[in-house]
Amino acid sequence: MERYVSLFALSLLSLGFMQSKTFDIEVKDSSNHTCIHASLMVNFTVQYEVNSTFSKNSTFSAPSNVTINGSHCGENSGSPLLLVNFGNGHSWSLNFTKNSTMYSGDILNFTYNTNDSTFFPDALKQGLKSSLTKFLDPVLLNRTYKCMHNEILRSENVIQLIWNVTLQAYVQNDTLGQEITCDADKPVVPTPTPPAPTPKPVDKPSVGNYVVSDDTGKCLLASLALQVNASLTIEGKNVSVLYNLNPNTTSSTGTCGNDTATLRLNDTKVAIEFDFAIEHCQERYKIRVSGRLL
Ligand SMILES: *[C@@H]1O[C@H](CO)[C@@H](O)[C@H](O)[C@H]1NC(C)=O
Ligand SMILES: *[C@@H]1O[C@H](CO)[C@@H](O)[C@H](O)[C@H]1NC(C)=O
Ligand SMILES: *[C@@H]1O[C@H](CO)[C@@H](O)[C@H](O)[C@H]1NC(C)=O
Ligand SMILES: *[C@@H]1O[C@H](CO)[C@@H](O)[C@H](O)[C@H]1NC(C)=O
Ligand SMILES: *[C@@H]1O[C@H](CO)[C@@H](O)[C@H](O)[C@H]1NC(C)=O
Ligand SMILES: *[C@@H]1O[C@H](CO)[C@@H](O)[C@H](O)[C@H]1NC(C)=O
Ligand SMILES: *[C@@H]1O[C@H](CO)[C@@H](O)[C@H](O)[C@H]1NC(C)=O
Ligand SMILES: *[C@@H]1O[C@H](CO)[C@@H](O)[C@H](O)[C@H]1NC(C)=O
Ligand SMILES: *[C@@H]1O[C@H](CO)[C@@H](O)[C@H](O)[C@H]1NC(C)=O
Ligand SMILES: *[C@@H]1O[C@H](CO)[C@@H](O)[C@H](O)[C@H]1NC(C)=O
Ligand SMILES: *[C@@H]1O[C@H](CO)[C@@H](O)[C@H](O)[C@H]1NC(C)=O
Ligand SMILES: *[C@@H]1O[C@H](CO)[C@@H](O)[C@H](O)[C@H]1NC(C)=O
Repeated sequence: MERYVSLFALSLLSLGFMQSKTFDIEVKDSSNHTCIHASLMVNFTVQYEVNSTFSKNSTFSAPSNVTINGSHCGENSGSPLLLVNFGNGHSWSLNFTKNSTMYSGDILNFTYNTNDSTFFPDALKQGLKSSLTKFLDPVLLNRTYKCMHNEILRSENVIQLIWNVTLQAYVQNDTLGQEITCDADKPVVPTPTPPAPTPKPVDKPSVGNYVVSDDTGKCLLASLALQVNASLTIEGKNVSVLYNLNPNTTSSTGTCGNDTATLRLNDTKVAIEFDFAIEHCQERYKIRVSGRLL
């Protein structure tokens, strides 16, 4: 009973994974050395004729249980061939070519059997049809091409979606070479866009409390918020600058006399000096203030 239950669970599991399958194969030469390693997933969408006026599209995946009869390492012809057979007479083949530094795929030949009613229900029985495209741009020898992203190959009546590819031809010493990642898989480096120079509105200045001390202690207390509106001439152009003193970064120094005092405020960008003078007039006095930007 237990055995029956677990078998049933297993068959459900395999149904769940039926949509997309990776096939993973090695082609070996006559001395049992690997020349091609291929692991990938491929979906086919094939437009096929139902009758003389109507067509249908069928989408199916290459299964994981493929056979590689007919594949070879090119010992006689010079061009290794990966020939993958699956289902009822379908095949997917890619031959390779190389020079002294690079190898690449040459012709991808997808051949499908329209007589297979699982993939092509109601099809006009036309037998085998082939769709030829190119696949695999040049890769350095002794390197494994790796690409997770979808690659779409279009040809008449067939669209192939290939992904999760690990592929190397001309494998040396039964060992896969270092992986070469396809461009699509490389992390996108955002190109820095320079921020648009938007004139930032200047806030109200903050109030700062400034102190000038001399031998007798604090001799001047000033509580003020300061906004500098300067008109400058820079390279013959009049430029107006609005700047708030930040009390947090402003230090104060100065001197005190009997009737005069100076206060010097040093911000990170500007320094301003104020002169205070007490003018006695009759019973009252007033303070004269003059400031200058240093
Ligand atoms: C080829 O090598 C595999 C192990 O890599 C071994 O199982 C197999 O028996 C070998 N076949 C031949 C014909 O030597
Ligand atoms: C072709 O197939 C379509 C869809 O199955 C059907 O509606 C149509 O009648 C067929 N035409 C002919 C000429 O058989
Ligand atoms: C089949 O797919 C192709 C490509 O996506 C599309 O142009 C065509 O209209 C489709 N045909 C049918 C019968 O859905
Ligand atoms: C591949 O085709 C199967 C149907 O056979 C579909 O369920 C799956 O979503 C397709 N995968 C992609 C990535 O398009
Ligand atoms: C591959 O597996 C399917 C079911 O998963 C089965 O119907 C088919 O016969 C198998 N094909 C081969 C060549 O083993
Ligand atoms: C690859 O196969 C195609 C078609 O089968 C053939 O025309 C081509 O010459 C082959 N390429 C090499 C390098 O042998
Ligand atoms: C080898 O092939 C690559 C890609 O086609 C090419 O860029 C390179 O120049 C070739 N090298 C030699 C030595 O022919
Ligand atoms: C494509 O593969 C089919 C089936 O193996 C074969 O009959 C056909 O000749 C091949 N086409 C080319 C151009 O190699
Ligand atoms: C990609 O292929 C590997 C086998 O090479 C497989 O283990 C893995 O599950 C696949 N990944 C996806 C997202 O299909
Ligand atoms: C092949 O592998 C063997 C043992 O792993 C090592 O001694 C030898 O140098 C390798 N040859 C090449 C060409 O990488
Ligand atoms: C092939 O690549 C592997 C792994 O990067 C390296 O260990 C080996 O030496 C290379 N072989 C040759 C002949 O360059
Ligand atoms: C000054 O510092 C205080 C406390 O650290 C902060 O709340 C305030 O925003 C600062 N003022 C300015 C103008 O940066």
